[in-house]
Amino acid sequence: MTTSVLSVASEVFPLIKTGGLADVAGALPSSLAAHDFAVRTLMPGYPDVMRQVGDAPVACRFADLFGGPARVLAANVGGLDLLVLDAPHLYDRTGGPYVTSAGHDHGDNWARFAALSKVGAEIGQGAISGFAPAIVHAHDWQAALTPVYLAVSGRARPKTVLTIHNLAFQGNFPYQIFPGLGLPPAAWSIEGVEYYGDVGYLKGGLHAADMVTTVSPTYAEEILTPTGGMGLDGLLRGRGEGLVGIVNGIDTAVWNPKTDPDIPHHYSPRSPKSRSRNKRALETEFGLPHEDGPIVAVVSRLTWQKGLDLVADACDSLVERGVRMVVVGSGEPMIEGRFQAAHVRHADRIGVRIGYDEALSHRVQAGADAILVPSRFEPCGLTQLYGLRYGCIPVVAKVGGLADTVIDANYAAVTAGVATGIIFSPPSQEGLMDAVDRMLRLFADPAGWRQLQLSAMNADVSWRASAGHYAQLFRDLIGDQRP
Ligand code: ADP
Ligand code: GLC
Repeated sequence: MTTSVLSVASEVFPLIKTGGLADVAGALPSSLAAHDFAVRTLMPGYPDVMRQVGDAPVACRFADLFGGPARVLAANVGGLDLLVLDAPHLYDRTGGPYVTSAGHDHGDNWARFAALSKVGAEIGQGAISGFAPAIVHAHDWQAALTPVYLAVSGRARPKTVLTIHNLAFQGNFPYQIFPGLGLPPAAWSIEGVEYYGDVGYLKGGLHAADMVTTVSPTYAEEILTPTGGMGLDGLLRGRGEGLVGIVNGIDTAVWNPKTDPDIPHHYSPRSPKSRSRNKRALETEFGLPHEDGPIVAVVSRLTWQKGLDLVADACDSLVERGVRMVVVGSGEPMIEGRFQAAHVRHADRIGVRIGYDEALSHRVQAGADAILVPSRFEPCGLTQLYGLRYGCIPVVAKVGGLADTVIDANYAAVTAGVATGIIFSPPSQEGLMDAVDRMLRLFADPAGWRQLQLSAMNADVSWRASAGHYAQLFRDLIGDQRP
C-alpha cells in the first residue's frame, strides 16, 4: 500500500534553485517512490515557477492568506508531483526567492514563509480533497512553522518531520510579527516560537516536529555543541533520539557523465580519454593554456561558511605551484573581489565567473581535476558528491557531510584502492595548502591518480541508501511494521 507524504520546501530543482536544498527537495521524492511513499511537494509560486506551471488546475483556494487570496495549483514537472502556492501578494516580485534585486531580505519574509507553512499545515489536514498525507516533511526555517501550526491546531494531524539543511539560517523575526502569525497566545513560550525575545521559526519547528533530521551524521553531532549549535544546541540535545543525521544523495540521472546534456564529451569510468577532452574544452572556455598540469575548481556560494576566503587568499600560492584554477560562484562582495583581482593578476592561470550558471557547473565538474571545498562548517555539501560522480577529485575540510562522504587518500586507503579524495583539518590557509600539496603529489603519479578517479566515480552517491533511511523513519513514525 502506498503512503502519502507532503513535502514542504522553499526551493525545488528544476523549478527554482539557490543551493543544495533545491537539489534535495527535487530528488528525494522519486527515490522514496521505490519504498512505496508517494510524495507531493508544496512550494511557493515565485514568478519563475508560475511561468512553468501557470495553467495547472487549482487544487484548493484560500480567501485570505496573510493579506490576500491564494490558490494551490497541482502540476507535474519532470516527474515531480507539485503543489504550487500561487499568492501574488507574497511571491510575485523581482529578485530571488529570499532577497530583493539589491540583495536585501524581502521585508515581509516572515509572512511569505509563515504562509507557506500555514498552507502546508492546512493541506496536511485535508484542504485538498482526496489527499490525506500520513507524513508532513518540512525543510529548513522557511517551512518550519508547518509542524507548529499542526501541533496547535487541536485537530487530528499527520506525523511531522523537520529537516535542518543549515542551522545558520534560523528565520528569527522581531516579536511584533507574532500577532500576525495567527498562532494562539500560548505559542509565545519556550515550548513554542519564542526565542530570546524574538520569534524563531526554526526553533519553534524543532520543538514541535515529531522527528528532526539533518543532512549528515557528523553534522547531527556537531550541532549538539555550542559552536555548531548556533544557539540551538541545548534544544537539540534535549531532542535525544528524536534527532538523526541522514546523508544526502544526488540525482544520478541529472548528474551522469554518460548522458549529461550540459557537457561537451560524454564519458564513464571506463573511458577516461573523453574526460580529458572536457578538460581541453574547459581550458578554452576560461582562456587558460592547454597544459597537462592540474586544474582545481570552485563552484559555490562565495561565503565565510564555505571557507572561500581561504582559497581567494591562496591564489598566488596556487599559481606559484603551477596550478590553474576556475571559479564559478557569487556571494560576499569581498570574496568576489579578491577572486576577480586574482584573475587580473593571473589572467592565464585563474578563470573567474561571478554569477550562477547551472550548466557551467556541470562542465566544470566534467573538466577540472579537483574541486576545493574548504568549508568551516558544512551540513552535507553536494558539490563534493558531484565531484566524486564526475571524477573531479574532492579536496575537502573535515567537517559535517564532507567528512562523511569522502575517503581520504592516506597511505592505507590508497594502498587498499578505496581512497576517493583528500580531507584536511583544520580549515585554514596552512591546512588548505598542505592538502593542495598532497593533491599535487598524487596527481604526479598518473596511475595512482587514475585509481583515485575510478574509486571516486564508483562511489555510491545516489539516494538509494539514504532514501531507505527516510523510508524507515517514516514507517517508524506511523507505526507501519513493514520492513
Ligand atoms: P549550499 O546549499 O550550502 O550552497 P551545497 O553543496 O549543498 O551547498 O549545494 C550547492 C548547490 O548549488 C550545488 O548543486 C552546486 O553545484 C550549486 N551551485 C552553487 N553555486 C553555484 C553557481 N555559482 N553556479 C551554479 N551552481 C552553483
Ligand atoms: C544546505 C547546506 C548544505 C547541504 C544542503 C542540502 O544548503 O549548507 O551543506 O548540502 O543544504 O541539504
